[in-house]
Amino acid sequence: MDYCIEVEDLVVEAEGQRIIDSVSFKVKCGEYVVVTGPSGGGKSVLLRTISGGAGYLSGLSIKGRVYVNGVNVLEGGVKSVAGTIGVVLQNPVNQVFNLTVEEEVAFPLENMGLDPLAIEERVKWSLSLLGVEDLRKKLVSELSMGQLQRVVVASIIAMKPKIMLLDEPCSHIDPASKKDFYAALKDLWKALDLTIVVVEHELSHVLGYATKMLLLNKRLIAYGDPIEILSRVNVEEYGVKEPPHIKYCRLLKSKLRPISESEVVECLKEVFCKTSK
Ligand SMILES: Nc1ncnc2c1ncn2[C@@H]1O[C@H](COP(=O)(O)OP(=O)(O)O)[C@@H](O)[C@H]1O
Ligand SMILES: [Mg+2]
Repeated sequence: MDYCIEVEDLVVEAEGQRIIDSVSFKVKCGEYVVVTGPSGGGKSVLLRTISGGAGYLSGLSIKGRVYVNGVNVLEGGVKSVAGTIGVVLQNPVNQVFNLTVEEEVAFPLENMGLDPLAIEERVKWSLSLLGVEDLRKKLVSELSMGQLQRVVVASIIAMKPKIMLLDEPCSHIDPASKKDFYAALKDLWKALDLTIVVVEHELSHVLGYATKMLLLNKRLIAYGDPIEILSRVNVEEYGVKEPPHIKYCRLLKSKLRPISESEVVECLKEVFCKTSK
């Protein structure tokens, strides 16, 4: 299968107001898509629609077609993508239900009907992938937000989904942990051949390896290669944080204002580092 996610002419309305306006795009299996755009632009609604998430979308009128691995989610609902899609929410606190880390990771596996030996293997495997095996016996309530976020991702990874949807996964995490989180996510993406769709405002965390960028402001403003989009669209108009070197390069190219020698050096360094990767 070429495409893991296909969205065709998606229209979402609440009380006659358009939240998502005729959005179409396709995501190839194995891609890393960063979804960005202004607050209220429809990013969370889009992610929840792809995941078939019923509760969050109650009261909304949803039209169009959304296929996940060829299955129409709008017809099949959450059940049709269970086991295929793993979702990580904005606030990890809203996603933990158990007392200990071990129970948190094992619980969904028990629900999947796995035998105890397989559960033990997957708990060990997923916690070590996220570098949190030492937290296994801890109470969930003892963890920092950064640790909690990793445990949530481990509990999702343990179910071995093919696609991961993450909605601003680090909005409650300090900048250093955020950097580490995105590095860990990149490693997972490569090691497990995942398809990732992540909502993020701060592009510097994903630029250089995200294969696609989707800029959403009710309508689809742009979808494609992130660097190509950044070279022609001023994403800051849409509330997105542009990495400094992209800004410098734009200024350098357009000669909008003089920039300092050190900025030019920085710009060239970044450009060469990115292209030589
Ligand atoms: N269940 C709902 N019912 C009515 N309006 C909703 C619902 N969910 C989201 N919205 C509205 O849809 C718009 C887009 O929301 P959202 O997808 O959360 O934006 P973003 O994640 O880009 O910040 C907002 O105006 C929000 O108030
Ligand atoms: Mg949101």
